Amino acid sequence: MLSQQAAHIVGDGLKANPELTLGLPTGSTPLGMYAELVRLRQAEGLDFSRARTFNLDEYIGLPADHPKSYHAYMRRHFFDHVNLAAENIDIPNGAPGIDVDAESERYERAIHAAGGIDLLIVGIGANGHIAFNEPGSSFASRTRVVNLAPDTIANARRLFESEAEAPRTAITVGIGTILDAHRILVLASGASKAGVVRRVLRGLVSESLPATALQLHADVTAILDQPAALDTPQSL
Ligand code: GLP
Repeated sequence: MLSQQAAHIVGDGLKANPELTLGLPTGSTPLGMYAELVRLRQAEGLDFSRARTFNLDEYIGLPADHPKSYHAYMRRHFFDHVNLAAENIDIPNGAPGIDVDAESERYERAIHAAGGIDLLIVGIGANGHIAFNEPGSSFASRTRVVNLAPDTIANARRLFESEAEAPRTAITVGIGTILDAHRILVLASGASKAGVVRRVLRGLVSESLPATALQLHADVTAILDQPAALDTPQSL
C-alpha cells in the first residue's frame, strides 16, 4: 500500500507535469515504490522521458560502479528500467579523488538551474536523520560533506564486506535544500520506525532530530505503513 500510494503520487505528478523534477531517496523503504514505478512504466507506459531526478545523497570513497554505491542502487532498482534520459539524472559524486566541496557547490547549482525540486521523497533514519543529515545538522544546511553518525555507520556496515570498507563520510543535500522542495513525501515502514516517526511528526522541532524540520514545510505528505504508524496519533 505504502509503495503503491507513493508511486501513484509520483505518477500523478508526472502526468500533470512531464518535466517534473524529483528528489530521490535510497534505503530499504523506497524499494517497493521503485518497483511499482517500474511496473507502471511497463504496464501503462508511464513516461519519464522529460523528468529530472536528483538523488539526496551518496557515500564518499566509493566509485560509481561499486555495487554498494547509491549510484548502483539507483541503476539496479530504477534507472535501468524506466525511460529517464541519462542527462536528466543527477547524483552527488562521492568517488575517490573527487573534490567534494566543489561537487557540493555544483550540486546546489544544478538543482537551482533545474528550477528546484518539485517533489522530494525521503525516508527517515533510525536516529531521525533525513538523507544523511545527522542529528545536530543545521536546518539551513546545504549540500555538503558530512561525517556519518556511529549508528549510521554500524547500519551501513551490515551491507559491506569489512569494517575498513564501510563508509564513514557522505555527501548529502542539506536540510535547507530539502525544505526548498515544493512538495515533500515522507515514507516510513516497519515497527522499528514507530518511535522515531511519532517524534518526527508530533514532537518538538529540534536540530537534534533532523527530520522534525519537515514540520516547518507547508506541503508534506507522510505515508506510513501500519507498524510504523502505531505510536502516532491521527490527531492531537
Ligand atoms: C540511509 C539513507 C537515508 C534513508 C535511511 C533509512 O541512511 N541515506 O536517506 O532514509 O538510510 O533507510 P531505510 O529505508 O533502509 O530504513
